[in-house]
Amino acid sequence: MGTAMSGAASVAPQGFELRGWSEQRLALVEQALSRWVVADAPAGLGDAMRYAVLDGGKRLRPLLVLAAAEAVRGNEAAALRAACAVELIHAYSLVHDDMPCMDNDVLRRGKPTVHVKFGQAQALLAGDALQALAFELLAPEDEDGVSATVQAALCRLLARAAGHEGMAGGQAIDLASVGQQLDEPQLREMHRRKTGALLRGSVMMGAACGDIGTAARAALSRYGAALGLAFQVVDDILDVTADSATLGKTAGKDAAQDKPTYVSLLGLERSRALAAGLLDEALAALGESGLPDTRALHALAKMVVDRDN
Ligand code: IPE
Ligand code: IPE
Ligand code: MG
Ligand code: MG
Ligand code: MG
Repeated sequence: MGTAMSGAASVAPQGFELRGWSEQRLALVEQALSRWVVADAPAGLGDAMRYAVLDGGKRLRPLLVLAAAEAVRGNEAAALRAACAVELIHAYSLVHDDMPCMDNDVLRRGKPTVHVKFGQAQALLAGDALQALAFELLAPEDEDGVSATVQAALCRLLARAAGHEGMAGGQAIDLASVGQQLDEPQLREMHRRKTGALLRGSVMMGAACGDIGTAARAALSRYGAALGLAFQVVDDILDVTADSATLGKTAGKDAAQDKPTYVSLLGLERSRALAAGLLDEALAALGESGLPDTRALHALAKMVVDRDN
């Protein structure tokens, strides 16, 4: 079931098949994550970390990193590390988001949440350790062809997307907003931080693996920002329209917990129209980037808005 209407800009890119493109990249990402998130951390911590990261998730953020890196012909080794690092931050954010002190969820990626399975203290620590590991991955001692400057840029982009300016700040607003009705600019700002920042950050990290001009970088930033907001608008819609089995997480949580969302503010139809408009914005920005092949980025943006989980 698609969630958006298609505008003129959202016609499928010619001769490009997202499924085939993704399968290859997903295999690389899964292999790398399994290699880097080791089980032998002390006292069962490794098991909790692997449980949080492996076997599940759409891996949208890694795919965005890799698609952006390919669009700029960036360094592949750096891109794979960046792809995994973003996913580690995302997985950590989900572990903490599900804890009783936050959204108090028992189901994630079709499995019991990490705190249900391993206890709250271990869940807290697994999140902490995944966050640290993400930055360790971005700064290996001897990576062929990846300069210290690129490593530092990747760390800076990820730190900004994950911290108070991005995800953590947005989560703070989310928790402070329970039971309140935010206006559209306030809601947009919350979503921009809590979810949009890491998605835009994924695109910009992919771009940082290559060498492009200011105009192309700015266009990719606009693409990432529009796609990032669209993603959370659709997450708000799916919370209302999809069932828990399809989502792999508890449906209907936002209304049950009295969270302000795009659906509570605008209703379903206007939220869908907003997501479709944001998709058009994202695709227009890609067109303005001047990059020769943005087909994977194009197809991923469509997938964000058309997804059913
Ligand atoms: C869910 O993200 C949490 C939000 C940021 C809204 P995803 O829908 O990308 O979750 P996974 O990674 O596929 O499980
Ligand atoms: C969470 O948003 C975004 C994060 C930073 C993890 P939600 O609370 O809406 O995510 P879900 O619906 O539980 O996946
Ligand atoms: Mg939440
Ligand atoms: Mg949640
Ligand atoms: Mg949600």
